[in-house]
Amino acid sequence: MKKHYWITILIILVVIGSLGCSQMISQQGLNAETTGSSDNEDDNSDEYEQEIIVGFSQLGAESDWRSANTISMKEAFEADPRYKLIFEDGQQKQSNQITAIRKFIQQEVDYIVLAPVTEEGWDTVLEEAKEAGIPVILVDRMISVEDDSLYNCYVGSDFELEGKKLTAWLNEFAIAKKIEAEDIHIVNIQGSIGSSAQLGRTKALRQAARKNGWDLLDEVCGDFTETKAREVMAGLLKKYDNINVVYCENDNEAFGAITAIEEAGKKVGSNIERGEIMVLAFDGVSEDAVKYVEEGKIACIAECNPLHGPRVHSLITTLNVGGSPQKISYVNEGVFTAIPVVKSILVDDVSYEISIIE
Ligand code: AHR
Repeated sequence: MKKHYWITILIILVVIGSLGCSQMISQQGLNAETTGSSDNEDDNSDEYEQEIIVGFSQLGAESDWRSANTISMKEAFEADPRYKLIFEDGQQKQSNQITAIRKFIQQEVDYIVLAPVTEEGWDTVLEEAKEAGIPVILVDRMISVEDDSLYNCYVGSDFELEGKKLTAWLNEFAIAKKIEAEDIHIVNIQGSIGSSAQLGRTKALRQAARKNGWDLLDEVCGDFTETKAREVMAGLLKKYDNINVVYCENDNEAFGAITAIEEAGKKVGSNIERGEIMVLAFDGVSEDAVKYVEEGKIACIAECNPLHGPRVHSLITTLNVGGSPQKISYVNEGVFTAIPVVKSILVDDVSYEISIIE
């Protein structure tokens, strides 16, 4: 009896001791969580090392612009030890991007960054992200959704403004060279249909053609790639014998169009009154694009800036400390040419300088 008595006392003491100890541990945990800080420097360094997981759904790798954009995104997040970037390449398919977003939701990432291939068709998957409580940041291109609370913020280009700048330059060029509006015969090699880059740039050209009285002969999709643009330009040259301006919706399409024009035995250049075909482009990203401007093979480029990595990093850092960044931020972009016909252009009552490459 006596032995059983002491064993019972011992068990009670062990249970009381362990209860007290676990209460102490949970109090320390609670304090650390609620205050979010500590006097101890080591605790601070633990917090600093905590990873913020960002899932980035890139739409593909179709152009030099896209490669520069991917590098910029990866470098910005790799340079900051607080972040881990999970990269998914959508290979130009919206279905792949939707799958990537669903994977990010399953992985419980902290933020989703989406560079959308097209504007339409994002409502359902972004509702799923919202239900999971994951903030969504749009980069580069816009989306068209009923409810704009499906994304937190956007950073990218004003594509219609880019188009307005390029067409304003063409108008100034025609005036300076005394070329009649009806003598400008344009074909548009469009980007991926339904992307905001294509929609904005195509809209700007249609408006300018209508307003100025230019002859817009045709619009054909070049998918933002050199290969497709070369193929469609070859077809356009067979179909029309009076093309004198090619409006390419990115650098790579311009490279393809130039090859097709030269292969057809025609000359690329700005002397359109003497039978040359003028090439216009967007982006201005690669060394080749700059070289072509210097050589006069691309008459003018409206810049599209791909270096969004630090911008997205800064948006997420703001969101992460509870800040509310601006909903929509557009990047400032220039216009480049080697043809010194005008120093500035006027678009919607705003003056933009032209950078003359020598
Ligand atoms: O959305 C930006 C556009 O997409 C760039 O102009 C083009 O090069 C890219 O593929």
